[in-house]
Amino acid sequence: MSENKIIQIGVIGAGNIANVHMNEFKKVPGAAIAAVTDVYVSLAESRAKEHGIPKVHASYEELLQDPNLDAVIIAVPNEMHAPIAISALEAGKHVLLEKPMAINAASAKQIIRAHRASDKILMIAHQMRWEAINLQVKEQIDKGAIGEIYNVKAGWMRRKGIPGWGTWFTQMSKSGGGPLIDIGVHMLDLSLHLMGNARPVSVFGTTYAEFGPKRKGIGTWGKPDWNGTYDVEDLATALIKLDNGSTLTLDVSWAAHTDMLDNQPYLYVMGSEGGATLRGNKGKLFTELFDRTAEVELSVPDNDEGARVRQSNHFVDCIREGKEPITSGLSGLANNLVLEAIYESSRTGSVVTLDWNI
Ligand SMILES: NC(=O)c1ccc[n+]([C@@H]2O[C@H](COP(=O)([O-])OP(=O)(O)OC[C@H]3O[C@@H](n4cnc5c(N)ncnc54)[C@H](O)[C@@H]3O)[C@@H](O)[C@H]2O)c1
Repeated sequence: MSENKIIQIGVIGAGNIANVHMNEFKKVPGAAIAAVTDVYVSLAESRAKEHGIPKVHASYEELLQDPNLDAVIIAVPNEMHAPIAISALEAGKHVLLEKPMAINAASAKQIIRAHRASDKILMIAHQMRWEAINLQVKEQIDKGAIGEIYNVKAGWMRRKGIPGWGTWFTQMSKSGGGPLIDIGVHMLDLSLHLMGNARPVSVFGTTYAEFGPKRKGIGTWGKPDWNGTYDVEDLATALIKLDNGSTLTLDVSWAAHTDMLDNQPYLYVMGSEGGATLRGNKGKLFTELFDRTAEVELSVPDNDEGARVRQSNHFVDCIREGKEPITSGLSGLANNLVLEAIYESSRTGSVVTLDWNI
């Protein structure tokens, strides 16, 4: 694609995260949001008005036929990720797909097959990989400063954060799960990214629903629909083994009687030569020097442009240079395989082995 061409992007779904993308892409040179659609056309129209988006389409099918568009952002409920991503790739559009990649592993594999049959870019939106502190930790890992990573403990324990009670968020058939697939997927993705190229192979986990069914633990993201239903977990805990012998423990909740790290995401990396801790937007590196413990505080640079701008720029660079995004389809599949295995392990009480056959 020519360096001067402005990449024209259509947004499918005009809800909360679509609004965030619309704001972020304004800061990205060489790309423009050129069209939007939503099943609620009036919502798409009001977003178009607010963000100066020139075209509103009546459906995602119509938007995908728009010859002006090079790429799409898919920001719809999880159950629709696979059908829309596959249609978009078949229609010859590059795809930035919101997390989780798909509602389950089988759908993620279908997306990968459609991607392999296309010559387009497929990127999953995992902006946490682009946080300033997380990039600094990854840089040290890549330089070998932490040595071999053998254990990671990651999580995100919200005390009162159930999003959109009764809406698609809390319906298994539409979301694929609760906090595990909603916020756990961020911590899982970041952990696997920091742990390098090792593949997750088996999982033992359990999920609980102590708050949602009682209409407790309600958070602020999304408006509740009290006529809706709640049939997902509100807490999950799991042990994941990787093919190089390393282990990852993952703990997530939308609601729990705890103040673990003040509701902030956390991640502890333990390596043979050093370690790293991430807590919210704070970070530290650890090692041993002269028989003493040594620590280095990490900080976010002043005027940091932010993770989502870096993520958006990466999408544009990948399209221009025809390169694979760091949050590739395979990385999305790894997440879906682990998530699904945790749910299965919770149902069966057994260790679940991941099926990587695509
Ligand atoms: N990366 C992040 O940090 C982050 C944060 C929030 C949500 N998300 C993800 O983004 C996705 C959307 O979440 P949200 O919070 O914006 O939800 P939302 O409910 O606010 O918005 C989803 C929108 O999609 C629309 N929609 C549903 N089916 C559609 C279809 N067939 N065609 C067009 N539009 C359709 C809905 O009408 C709704 O307006 C989810 O997959 C969620 O996991 C990611």
